[in-house]
Amino acid sequence: MIQRPRRLRKNPIIREMVAETRLSKDMFIYPYFVVPGKNVVHPIDAMPGVSHFSVDELLKDVEKGLKIGINKILLFGVGEDKTEDASSSFSTNSVVVKAVSALKEKFGDSIYVITDICVCAYTTHGHCGIIHNDYVHNDSSVEVLAKMALAHARAGADMVAPSDMMDGRISAMRDLLDKNGFENTAIMSYSIKYASAYYGPFREAADSAPQKGDRKSYQMDYRNGNESMTEGIIDESEGADILMVKPALAYMDVIFNLRQTTLLPIACYNVSGEYSMVKAAAANGWIDEQKIVMENMYSFARAGANIIITYHTKDIFEKGWL
Ligand code: PBG
Ligand code: ZN
Repeated sequence: MIQRPRRLRKNPIIREMVAETRLSKDMFIYPYFVVPGKNVVHPIDAMPGVSHFSVDELLKDVEKGLKIGINKILLFGVGEDKTEDASSSFSTNSVVVKAVSALKEKFGDSIYVITDICVCAYTTHGHCGIIHNDYVHNDSSVEVLAKMALAHARAGADMVAPSDMMDGRISAMRDLLDKNGFENTAIMSYSIKYASAYYGPFREAADSAPQKGDRKSYQMDYRNGNESMTEGIIDESEGADILMVKPALAYMDVIFNLRQTTLLPIACYNVSGEYSMVKAAAANGWIDEQKIVMENMYSFARAGANIIITYHTKDIFEKGWL
């Protein structure tokens, strides 16, 4: 009788040897929400374990993180002035700019700083672009987004991560960065970002929900898988260094297909709703948090993700789950 797979599963040493998927701490990026002010550490209700930090407190938290190996972070700016034209998004005085400068001054190259590029937390209407005639206008939005990327690069950001889903933003950003001498600032594109209810807790955290309408004209339809490859191919041709799929759990097929389509590194974003569902079930004692989290992380890697952006990073590193 052929008992082949079973023989290789019986002994834990051999199970390790034949494991097809490995995870490494190098794959993880931890997101932070940065707010104006001082001494602010404000827990976010819908995301247990995640807080808003003012820049001074961010520095302390990042220092703690660095000690356990969290050396790649993604910054979101929250609580800035909201205007129609999103002018605070590209201000040289924005909270993200201040955070990046402070982090780079304190930690230099030991911390790799990535910034989210989008205007939904900076517009009165909460859309990811500039509105003309009741419609999110692509090209004027792209102009603002590129300026925002440049402001962050000037502050010292190592990588910018556009999450707006406007068309042509990667080449516009690449051009503006290169022209200004930032050819080493990398771009991780949220290439394949679905219009998803899984962003619910984040919108509370970032105060970035659209005041009216939804994001379906610029984010993707979750019924579509082929279209997502087009988005990835376009961003690659425009000069993106890393392509991202977001959300992650319900989109494993997309991660897998993208892996067959591109040779670029692939990131997946294990978003707020995915995180909060696990946290809520764990708090109720319905699931084993460590086991569920690690099963999810290995599955991202098995599907083809090289990089995992997740709010679980702190637990995984602090508690030695990896
Ligand atoms: C904003 C943005 C969102 C997320 C990252 N950047 C929300 C949205 O598009 O509505 C979601 C992150 C998360 O849910 O953890 N462009
Ligand atoms: Zn947005």
